[in-house]
Amino acid sequence: MTKVRGAQAHAVVTGGSSGIGLATARLLASKGASVSLIARGGERLEEAAAGLRASGAVVRTAAVDVSDQAALTAAIDGFVAEGGPCDILITAAGLARPGHFLELSDEVFRSMIEVDYFGTLHAIRAVAPGMVERGNGAIVAISSATAVLGFFGYTAYAPAKFAVRGLMEALRSELKPAGVHVGCVFPPDVDTPQLAEENLYKPAETAAISGAIKPITADKVAATIVRSIERRRFAVYPDPGIAVLAGLGPLLAPLVRRFVDRRVRRYRATR
Ligand SMILES: NC(=O)c1ccc[n+]([C@@H]2O[C@H](COP(=O)([O-])OP(=O)(O)OC[C@H]3O[C@@H](n4cnc5c(N)ncnc54)[C@H](OP(=O)(O)O)[C@@H]3O)[C@@H](O)[C@H]2O)c1
Repeated sequence: MTKVRGAQAHAVVTGGSSGIGLATARLLASKGASVSLIARGGERLEEAAAGLRASGAVVRTAAVDVSDQAALTAAIDGFVAEGGPCDILITAAGLARPGHFLELSDEVFRSMIEVDYFGTLHAIRAVAPGMVERGNGAIVAISSATAVLGFFGYTAYAPAKFAVRGLMEALRSELKPAGVHVGCVFPPDVDTPQLAEENLYKPAETAAISGAIKPITADKVAATIVRSIERRRFAVYPDPGIAVLAGLGPLLAPLVRRFVDRRVRRYRATR
C-alpha cells in the first residue's frame, strides 16, 4: 500500500507552488509526508515552501520548467537523493489558454502539449522505474473536465488534457500488476490563479455556456486526490456533475452538445 501517512512518505508535486498542487502538497504534508515542489517561479516556490515549513513540513524545492525533460529529471533525481524514493507523484503543473480557434497562435497549441502533456509524461518517466522496482507508489495526474467532454474555447487545452487522460488510462493497467497506483483527476473550474488568468482570455460564449457555475476550491480538489490515493481509485471527480457526465457520457453528450449550441446561438443573437 502506498504510504500517504508517516514521516517516510515522499511526495513530489509538480506545480506545487500554487493552486491544486500547493493544496495537495499541504494536505500530504499534514499527513506526515515530506514534499518536493517543482514550479518555474523561484519566488512563489519559496513562499509556498516557507508556508509549509512553518507548519512543520519537510520541504524541498526546484525551480524548473516541466517541459524541459533533462532539467526536470535532474531535479527529481536530486529530490530522491536527498529525501529517498518518491512514493507519490502529483503532476499539477499546467497551463490553460482558451480562445477562439481561428484566433489562437500555433505557439499556444504547441505550449499546451509541451507543458500539460509532455510535462506530465516527463515527470512520470522520472519516477515510474523506481516505483516498479520497489513494487510500490502512486502517480496522480491532473487532467480536466474538458477531457471528459471538449468545451467551446478550449481547442488548444482540451487535446492536451485528453492526451493526459489517454496516457493515464493506458498506464494504469500496465503499472497495476507492479503494485503502482495510477490516478487521473478531472476537475471542473477551480478557484486558483490559473482560473483567474484563464478568465482574461475566455471567449464570451464560454462564459455564457458556463452561466453562474461557481468554481470549487483547491482544498476540495486536494482532499479528493488524497482520498483517491488511499482508496486506489483511478478516475477522480472532485465535482459530482462531472462524474455523472463521465459515467453517462455517450448518453448525455448529445444533450450537452445541444445545450451548448443553444447557449452559443442565444449569446450571438444578443450581440
Ligand atoms: N483551475 C482550474 O479551473 C482547473 C480546472 C481543471 C484542471 N486544472 C489543472 O490543474 C492543474 C493545476 O492548476 P491550478 O489551477 O492549480 O493552477 P495554478 O494555481 O496557476 O498553479 C499552476 C502551477 O503550475 C506551475 N507551472 C505552470 N507552468 C509550469 C511549467 N511549465 N513548469 C513548471 N511548473 C509550471 C505554476 O508555477 P509557475 O508559473 O511558477 O511555473 C504553479 O505552481 C493544471 O494542470 C490545470 O490545467 C485546473
